[in-house]
Amino acid sequence: MIKASVVGATGYTGLELIKILTRHPRVKISSLTTRSEEPVSLDKLIPSLPKNHGLKLETFSLVKVASNSDVIFLALPHTQAMDVAYDCYKAGKIVIDLSADFRIKEAKLYEVWYGHKHSKKELLGDAVYGLPEAYRGQIKKSQLIANPGCYATSILLGLKPALESRLVDTDSIVVDSKSGVSGAGKKLSETTAFCNVDENFSAYKVNQHQHTPEVEASLAKFAGKKVSFTFVPHLLPIDRGILSTIYLKKKKGISAKKIRQAFTQAYESEPFVRVRPEGTFPSVKDVAHTNFCDIGIWAHERSDRVIVISAIDNLLKGASGQAVQNMNIRCGFPEAMGLV
Ligand SMILES: NC(=O)c1ccc[n+]([C@@H]2O[C@H](COP(=O)([O-])OP(=O)(O)OC[C@H]3O[C@@H](n4cnc5c(N)ncnc54)[C@H](OP(=O)(O)O)[C@@H]3O)[C@@H](O)[C@H]2O)c1
Repeated sequence: MIKASVVGATGYTGLELIKILTRHPRVKISSLTTRSEEPVSLDKLIPSLPKNHGLKLETFSLVKVASNSDVIFLALPHTQAMDVAYDCYKAGKIVIDLSADFRIKEAKLYEVWYGHKHSKKELLGDAVYGLPEAYRGQIKKSQLIANPGCYATSILLGLKPALESRLVDTDSIVVDSKSGVSGAGKKLSETTAFCNVDENFSAYKVNQHQHTPEVEASLAKFAGKKVSFTFVPHLLPIDRGILSTIYLKKKKGISAKKIRQAFTQAYESEPFVRVRPEGTFPSVKDVAHTNFCDIGIWAHERSDRVIVISAIDNLLKGASGQAVQNMNIRCGFPEAMGLV
């Protein structure tokens, strides 16, 4: 058994972490923290928790969390995680940070996209980007895992086989993503208010979403060269789920069969990526409340276009499920433990 804590446990991803960790056979939850000094009822936050779970939320104390945990999940807003991550890391703990604070290697780039000075630049080099399908070997040895963003997960998994196999052009990639409202976290805002979201559908942060630099960094690794992409995120009037539609162009002389094979071969032994049979495409409901990323591919001899559609649950494969997948890899547990 290992002891795991969740810092920022009352947020959307924190609550999902609690649900997964309570059923994980190799984990005992040691601390769940909040900024609140008033008592917060976990039973009210997660009515589905088993009876007599014995868990409570406590005001965050570094000394307490660090002394009673092997693994610490940080489910804090970006910019708020870096100092806590640093302290937990220096205390020798395995830190899995769900925020963006350690996803981007260059502090300057982080500061441009997040509008906040990075106070723990010295740790950026130690952090491993926690996309298991790409960096499993590094995750196994890392003390600081930067869990990817939700859009980033759906985009990178939809592009990795195509770029690594060098079968598509890299200068005309277009990504059209749609997310449910929980992607923005629980804080209230005008954009995510019911009357703005209900019966509505709109693009936002057109070609300037903050996940762009982390996606570009991994795309460059997959392609072996710098790759840029056009990225338009949209807000869907649903609570959870991301669907990314990715438009690519085949290189000259590449068959549709080869494209499809690149995906099936890349993911055949991946526990959480399912490539759909030809002619079928995923929907957000297919993966809701699961850690799966489902991918459908359209490629045909009559066109030089390739269309990849990937679907995830933003709170699971896009956040807390992937974070536990990373914990499993890091701690030597079966990768799908507690997740299926
Ligand atoms: N939502 C998603 O789909 C998703 C996907 C991938 C990654 N992420 C990332 O995961 C992290 C957590 O996301 P989330 O959606 O769970 O966020 P959230 O619902 O807004 O929850 C964040 C929690 O952090 C705590 N907190 C501590 N300091 C805070 C501060 N200064 N301001 C606001 N809250 C503070 C709050 O708990 P108390 O009020 O109890 O202290 C809050 O419940 C974020 O960095 C986010 O970008 C989210």
